[in-house]
Amino acid sequence: MQNEEGFTVRKIAVLNQKGGVGKTTTVANVAAALAIKGQRVIAVDLDPQSHLTIHLGVDPDSFENGAYEVLTKSASIADSLVNVRENLWVLGANIDLVGAESELVSEVGRETIFHEAVETISDDYDYLIIDCPPSLGLLSLNALAAVDEVVIPLQPHFLALQGLGQLLQTVTLVSKRINPSLKISAILLCMFDSRATLSSEVKADIQNFIGNSRGTNCPWADADLIPIHVRRNVKLAEAPSYGKTIFEYEPDCNGSRDYAAIADFLHDPASFKKNDETVEIEEHVKEPAEEIMDDAVIETITEEDITTPLTELVIETEEETQQKIVTEENTQSTETSEQPKYQIKEVSPTEIIAPRAEEAKEDSH
Ligand SMILES: Nc1ncnc2c1ncn2[C@@H]1O[C@H](COP(=O)(O)OP(=O)(O)O)[C@@H](O)[C@H]1O
Ligand SMILES: [Mg+2]
Repeated sequence: MQNEEGFTVRKIAVLNQKGGVGKTTTVANVAAALAIKGQRVIAVDLDPQSHLTIHLGVDPDSFENGAYEVLTKSASIADSLVNVRENLWVLGANIDLVGAESELVSEVGRETIFHEAVETISDDYDYLIIDCPPSLGLLSLNALAAVDEVVIPLQPHFLALQGLGQLLQTVTLVSKRINPSLKISAILLCMFDSRATLSSEVKADIQNFIGNSRGTNCPWADADLIPIHVRRNVKLAEAPSYGKTIFEYEPDCNGSRDYAAIADFLHDPASFKKNDETVEIEEHVKEPAEEIMDDAVIETITEEDITTPLTELVIETEEETQQKIVTEENTQSTETSEQPKYQIKEVSPTEIIAPRAEEAKEDSH
């Protein structure tokens, strides 16, 4: 699979099993920024909550084929893409995806179905970017098996690093057992508040952690802490309910500037570092980052883990962090007469893993 310049299509999963860290916002706006730059981008919604689909202006009830049909092998990706903007396509999610995990559980090779589907897409796309659900279940495993790169968004609050070890362990196991080309390419701090000391502390912890793994063969040895942080910006929280990207909703705001720069960085980190002198490039400090390393349990991965059946790799969904739209004190709401097109409804993790049979039963009452 090569694009017109002869490069392989870049396949990226945006993953963090915590909800509300900025995955969907990042996929929608990075995909849009790349498309505006002329890259041909497929944005994949693998979250049954359909937030990415809605964010890009597609009604989850409006399409015939989407991620569910691809995962259940009843449609190809090519037949399921919705063209949403110039150079931008979405593989949509709807409520059907709720049942995919339990339906696939007895399938042989269930964790590589999406990988196989991705292999069939034509070579004229430049990027495929997956918005993962807030869990490390079968949907996220399918994403990890299909991509070469993982980008981890983190919200730098006091629990930011909790769960990171489990995430890193999952990526390590997938890279050892299913997808040897899998790497964590970047960590992105979202909803960054430069006035909060905690944000800076989390940043320093991550820098230490990445610095420590340089030269090792773990999947994050070459990861970048993206030198642009996504600042808290209320426009980013408002845009999704209008089905608009930040570049359409409010092109002149911090959210817009941050995501445009992040897309530039992801597209070409080397020239970004060289050309943009205004961006502070972080030094990777060589110091132990005890807490993260403890959590990462990297040393505790044994031969046994590597040969245990994949079912044991599926880690139960943690209680999803309550999503909060935090309004920036000094940012005024956009005055607009336009009404939000959709209400984004929160779906609890238990709903996400509820078997379809139960859904059907309830429907018939
Ligand atoms: N930089 C930001 N500033 C303010 N609100 C944000 C920012 N990034 C995301 N949000 C809002 O925070 C909530 C969670 O973000 P989202 O991207 O949906 O996270 P996830 O996909 O990880 O659950 C959403 O309501 C989103 O609009
Ligand atoms: Mg999301």
